[in-house]
Amino acid sequence: MTESKSVIVFGADGYIGWPMAMHLSKLGHRVTAVDNLARRGWDVEGGTYSLLPMASMETRVARWKKETGREIIWRNLDLCDAEALDALMVEFMPDAVIHFAEQRSAPFSMISREHAVRTQVNNIVGNLNLLYSIHAIVPECHLIKLGSMGEYGSPNIDIEEGYITIEHNGRVDTLPFPKVPHSFYHLSKVADSQNIHFASRVWGLRATDLNQGVVYGVQTEETALHPELSTRFDFDSIWGTALNRFCVQSAVGEPLTIYGKGGQTRGYLDIRDTMACITLTLDNPPNVGECRVFNQFTEQFSLNELASVVMSAREKMGLSTEIVHIPNPRVEAEEHYYNPKHTALMDLGLRPHYLSDTLVTSVIKIVEQHKGIVDPVLLQIPSVDWRTGGNEIWEKYANQDEFKFNAIRTARLIDSARR
Ligand SMILES: NC(=O)c1ccc[n+]([C@@H]2O[C@H](COP(=O)([O-])OP(=O)(O)OC[C@H]3O[C@@H](n4cnc5c(N)ncnc54)[C@H](O)[C@@H]3O)[C@@H](O)[C@H]2O)c1
Repeated sequence: MTESKSVIVFGADGYIGWPMAMHLSKLGHRVTAVDNLARRGWDVEGGTYSLLPMASMETRVARWKKETGREIIWRNLDLCDAEALDALMVEFMPDAVIHFAEQRSAPFSMISREHAVRTQVNNIVGNLNLLYSIHAIVPECHLIKLGSMGEYGSPNIDIEEGYITIEHNGRVDTLPFPKVPHSFYHLSKVADSQNIHFASRVWGLRATDLNQGVVYGVQTEETALHPELSTRFDFDSIWGTALNRFCVQSAVGEPLTIYGKGGQTRGYLDIRDTMACITLTLDNPPNVGECRVFNQFTEQFSLNELASVVMSAREKMGLSTEIVHIPNPRVEAEEHYYNPKHTALMDLGLRPHYLSDTLVTSVIKIVEQHKGIVDPVLLQIPSVDWRTGGNEIWEKYANQDEFKFNAIRTARLIDSARR
């Protein structure tokens, strides 16, 4: 480790935030863990839960102190509360902040208008508040923001790391890479990226926007110290990644459900590599006014390939698996070109883990141990359909004043005729 820094981890009760807080604490940084526990509330609201039991933040930080003698300061705070955020920044004067604190489910954001609005307000307002607090209170602070590879969508050209040099009508410029994402959640991330880029240009903020791929795995050196230090494992169709869902479906004897043709390709990385990437980013800050963008993933798989990797990992362990294709509830290309660059973190020294190993050495075993608490309802056909967003508005008004809602009905008829 180089020097001990004051680091605030926002979203520290989450899947990645909690292991990250412990990892940085172990490295000798002074860590403040912040979260408003919104995610635990969203679970209660939707009847979802983590496959691994999750201790409260109070229990986690106490257990961490007991196991390691190190202190993590815990604060319950909403990033959308600007006043509380400013006071926190004044209290801890961070050298760096790591921002995980967002609503991070694409299906959640596509449930209804209310969910889309809630997602975008929470994410965009929280991020904007943070930019203002850094600018006013700790202008030298390094913002490390978790974006998503999903911001780019799946363009039919190579995806660069954040910027692309374009020649147009005889003139050349380097501009942010065009982004055509697949959900209102991912659109909130795009807005965040634009706001961060703007704050760097206008205020001279130092920022790294990490376009992260899908993260898998639950075991890090720190989570393995004690069950109370464990992180969450989501497997339902709202919060679980396709990979987690596949692992749980096969464990309970259900077939793996591939949405559509299964050619949808995305970047993936092990949670230990997420820790390593963020630590490398922290140790190598950008210059004043620099908005750096790294594509943070190590391997890429289509859904079909992902299912095959799960199947062969289970075969190695003497376990069987079946695969089915179901209608795709999302609107996305099911066969497409995908070639994103991801060399910047490798250049800083990242040594990746590989999915096929991690499945065999940890994920499948952990899922097998906990499969008894899986509610099969959570694995059923996905309840959120990208095409029917707004149905709740239609249903509310459909039987009311016919004249008044003629316009809505006409739009609806045109829409269904087009399909
Ligand atoms: N998990 C992945 O595979 C993945 C992939 C790409 C990007 N990301 C990004 O990484 C970040 C962390 O993801 P995760 O999987 O750990 O998510 P998570 O839902 O497990 O954790 C996010 C945490 O942020 C908190 N939070 C949300 N809004 C908040 C607010 N306004 N104020 C304070 N706390 C708030 C939640 O309570 C939750 O504990 C997210 O920004 C996500 O978009 C995750």
